[in-house]
Amino acid sequence: MIRFHKVRFRNFGSFGNNGTEIHLDRHRTTLVSGMNGHGKSFALLDSITFGLFGKPFRKINIPQLINSINEKDCYVEVYFSIGDDEYCVHRGIKPKIFEIYKNEELIDQNAKAKDYQRMLEENILKMNYKSFTQVVILGSSSFVPFMQLTAADRRDVIEDVLDIQVFSNMNTVLKSRASLKKDEIKELDNDLTLNKDRISVVENHVEKLIQANETKIKSLEDELSVTDGLIEKEEQKLSGLLKEQEKLLEQMKELESLKEKLNKYQNMQRLITNSLNKSIERISFFEDNESCPTCTQTIHDETKEGVLEKLQSKKDEFETASKDIEVQIENVQTKIDDLTQISRKSSECHSKIMDSKSGIESSRKYAKKLTEELKSMSTEENDSSIDETRKNLEVLNSERQTLIEKKEELREEGVLLGCVGNLLKDTGIKSKIIRHYLPLMNKLINKFLADMGFFAQFHLDENFNETIKSRFRDAFSYMSFSEGEKMRIDLALLLAWREIARLKNSANTNLLILDEVFDSSLDSVGTEEFMKLMSILSANTHVFVISHKSDQLVDKFENQITFVKSGNFSKVS
Ligand SMILES: Nc1ncnc2c1ncn2[C@@H]1O[C@H](COP(=O)(O)OP(=O)(O)O)[C@@H](O)[C@H]1O
Ligand SMILES: [Mg+2]
Repeated sequence: MIRFHKVRFRNFGSFGNNGTEIHLDRHRTTLVSGMNGHGKSFALLDSITFGLFGKPFRKINIPQLINSINEKDCYVEVYFSIGDDEYCVHRGIKPKIFEIYKNEELIDQNAKAKDYQRMLEENILKMNYKSFTQVVILGSSSFVPFMQLTAADRRDVIEDVLDIQVFSNMNTVLKSRASLKKDEIKELDNDLTLNKDRISVVENHVEKLIQANETKIKSLEDELSVTDGLIEKEEQKLSGLLKEQEKLLEQMKELESLKEKLNKYQNMQRLITNSLNKSIERISFFEDNESCPTCTQTIHDETKEGVLEKLQSKKDEFETASKDIEVQIENVQTKIDDLTQISRKSSECHSKIMDSKSGIESSRKYAKKLTEELKSMSTEENDSSIDETRKNLEVLNSERQTLIEKKEELREEGVLLGCVGNLLKDTGIKSKIIRHYLPLMNKLINKFLADMGFFAQFHLDENFNETIKSRFRDAFSYMSFSEGEKMRIDLALLLAWREIARLKNSANTNLLILDEVFDSSLDSVGTEEFMKLMSILSANTHVFVISHKSDQLVDKFENQITFVKSGNFSKVS
């Protein structure tokens, strides 16, 4: 329970710079009197709501709260206790102040003002502006009675009264968590798409690398087989050339013996020619000479003829021999010429062999290079780029697996959050609790109505829609009633909320402020009945009844505060 002790203020509304202090827990009943416009409502209603919630009770802007003459240092302090803890909220405009003290120590203020206010409402007061005004204040002006609140606002008030706002708070937290989860899943989906794209790029890359490798191996193999073919052909050619050369060399072996033969034949020819010439000389000697020039002995014709015949036949022999040898020499010479031809051929053949050999040599070198390249292509070392890419692919795939697992986890969490969300929804636990309390609420409302002499059957349903049945009138709604009757319904509702709040120890306070409730709407009978109600309110309640028609009431209150306007400022008289 919140027990309000006092409210202090200055330069607030019609009040001036001299501080005003109003004790809130000294008397069970206080009549707040004073003429119209003398500052009663500022002092009791606006000061407290501004202090606690940062907004006035009446519908004006915050700057309009600053006293219009002094124009600054508008300042309010509200003192209250909850359990053993004493609190004080300081709030000011020009300069702006918002401080909460717990047991005289300032509560850490490093959060934003909005969060600081939320902390005050959710963690300390456990009430918001709407609930506070519904259980503490019943006003004539600018007060929206429960029955005129929207369904959502009615729900808020009842949730505060039943202290089940926590489920709504949990639901808010849950919703933001669910939306975070959704974002996380979205992000994961993005990551997954990205991962998929990357995998396909890397897979393509691997494919291309393998293809390129295979193409290169294929072209190397083709090149190698062409080169091998060339080598084989060249080797065949070489072996032919070698055989030819062998043959030529074989033939060439005869050349030396032919040359010797020629020499011999030429010597023989010389000898034959000499002999022939000598024969011719001697023939001409005998033909020309009749006697011997040396011994002068006559050469007889018979001798002569005999000798000439012999010489002639020798000469003939020599001539035949000379012709023979000439033919022989010619033959040998022809053969030698032929062999010279062959020797040229042989040297041509030799150079062809050399060419072929060097061709084979370089082809072999090339083939060796190709083979080595091929070998290196198929060794693991050369596959390193493919290997590395494959490793990359593995990493990406395992990343994908992790992402999928994470997504599944998030999905499961989402399902859980959904279940919890269903429990926390308005139709979940809360509706069960509200349904549980509705009969009590209706009972209390009808009891307070009866206490005020208003005999009607008031019924609030689960959606906080009312039906009110009174005699001869079927199913009237709130708006069907007169102002006085409405006021009684408002009062009955407020008292019912207070009673339930007391039972639940939730939005329970010692303070009840009724602003000009009696002045216009409650007739004299109602007033009587209400005064009865006052007496049955719990001993812990401190009631402030604001009225400008104080005369008839004054003897019914323990205490009276009167506001007056002196000069331009309001004050307590
Ligand atoms: N910012 C302000 N500065 C000074 N006076 C103001 C300011 N705002 C309103 N007032 C005056 O305060 C009076 C209203 O006080 P209020 O508390 O409503 O009176 P009551 O409830 O006693 O009838 C009016 O006379 C109004 O002109
Ligand atoms: Mg007033």
